[in-house]
Amino acid sequence: MVIHALLAASLALTSLPAQAAAVDCDRVKCLALTFDDGPGAQTPALLKTLSKAGAKATFFLVGKRVEERPEVARQIVAKGHAIGNHTYSHASLPTKLDHEIAEELEVTQDVIEKATGRAPTIYRPPYGHTDERVLGLAAQSELAEILWTGTTLDWQLRDTKKIKAAVLKLAKRDGVILMHDVVPQTVKVMPEVVKELKKRGYHLVTVPTLLRGKRPVPGVSYF
Ligand code: NI
Repeated sequence: MVIHALLAASLALTSLPAQAAAVDCDRVKCLALTFDDGPGAQTPALLKTLSKAGAKATFFLVGKRVEERPEVARQIVAKGHAIGNHTYSHASLPTKLDHEIAEELEVTQDVIEKATGRAPTIYRPPYGHTDERVLGLAAQSELAEILWTGTTLDWQLRDTKKIKAAVLKLAKRDGVILMHDVVPQTVKVMPEVVKELKKRGYHLVTVPTLLRGKRPVPGVSYF
């Protein structure tokens, strides 16, 4: 009997991580942290912070940066985070010709798939610059557009205290927060930010989890 009880207890414990992975944002308070413009030199440190906290995030990757650090892109996926396409050269898409926009998206799809084994289903237009033409071309590349509910302007602030305050102010249920893993101060302050958000009851999830696991529709803009 004692052995059975111990066995049952250990089985219950081992099943916990699986339950924790399937967060239901209809039942709990979810928030999606998103990091753009990487992978960068600081990204591995950020991945460690997120792993320690059991937090998931979404990374919008720049194609040329994935070419520089394919192993970091692979690590992002391996750790269970979501990835999106953030163009090859970080271009303002509405200023480009149709074939140039298609190339920015398609080349990046290929580069990311080559590095990670996975082609993104979401993209984020650099600077948030988008229009109907861009969305039409994104649809042809099978990509849904993901914007944000709050931007920290971390690249401008470059100050750990101010970045932390900005994230906490912008945090809300089902929110999507825009940050940059290429801003060292953002990566530096993230352990504190994640700790405080968890204290406030947030479950830190990927954008696909926030969308309740439904595949976002290509050519449609979210948030
Ligand atoms: Ni960007």
